[in-house]
Amino acid sequence: MPRVHKRHDRSDIFIHWFNAACWLLLLLTGVGLIQNPAIDPFGSGYPEAMRALVGGGANLLIIHEVIGVVWILGFVLYLIVNFKGARFFLGEVFSVSPARDMAWLVRKMVLMTLGPRALKAVGMDPELPDQGYYNMGQKAFAQASVVGGVVIAVTGLIMLLSDRALGSGASGLVGWSVTLHFIAVGLVFAGLLVHIYMAAISPEERPGFKSMFTGVVPDGYARHHHRLWWNKITTDGE
Ligand code: HEM
Repeated sequence: MPRVHKRHDRSDIFIHWFNAACWLLLLLTGVGLIQNPAIDPFGSGYPEAMRALVGGGANLLIIHEVIGVVWILGFVLYLIVNFKGARFFLGEVFSVSPARDMAWLVRKMVLMTLGPRALKAVGMDPELPDQGYYNMGQKAFAQASVVGGVVIAVTGLIMLLSDRALGSGASGLVGWSVTLHFIAVGLVFAGLLVHIYMAAISPEERPGFKSMFTGVVPDGYARHHHRLWWNKITTDGE
């Protein structure tokens, strides 16, 4: 039995941290572009400071757009280099077994907030159902970030083109793009807070965090957290 199992290859690790870096820069520059003090998350001091830093709002917009285009090109490159990996990821993330996965999600949330006694009190088993390559929490966030990412990229490109190529006839399309861009960023960001807590701070997921650098996880972690995946790789070979 191998001591560790391969979980991510180099291109998966690269695209994950490239995506995280782009998200950070896009959030920092994007929030700086908001010019409405009523909805500005950090108050109007932040956009003003950000604009002053780069020599004005027009420059900040160009920087935001360039990072957005680099972000999209990074994913195109990843798809060219590792299409098989992307197909595997999407297949795993979007295959949900309603009975097993919903039971996992509900029990996990109760365990993390009220503890096992709360589950026993209502006659529920505190043991979590076995999970595959991703657990249902990871799948829910990954689904939101894939769908949200596509919406953000498409609406971002529409807004980019609106300044340069689209005429005034496209104002409805551009208006919807602005709204959907904000909603998608907000939804993915909400999930991201939970994702960062679960993936990087929660001690029980520490081996998963290390695997985002090393590419491998210990046998015991794979068996305990991703039993269906572990069963598969230990029966079929890696
Ligand atoms: C500081 C920022 C971040 C940290 C520390 C972090 C950490 C991790 C770790 C450790 C994993 C591996 C989980 C595993 O395979 O067992 C992972 C997976 C993943 N990350 Fe991140 N991540 C960060 C930012 C992001 C961002 C910005 C996104 C997208 C908006 C993202 C999307 C994903 C997705 C889709 C997966 C695969 C599914 C999952 O495990 O939830 N991550 N992340």
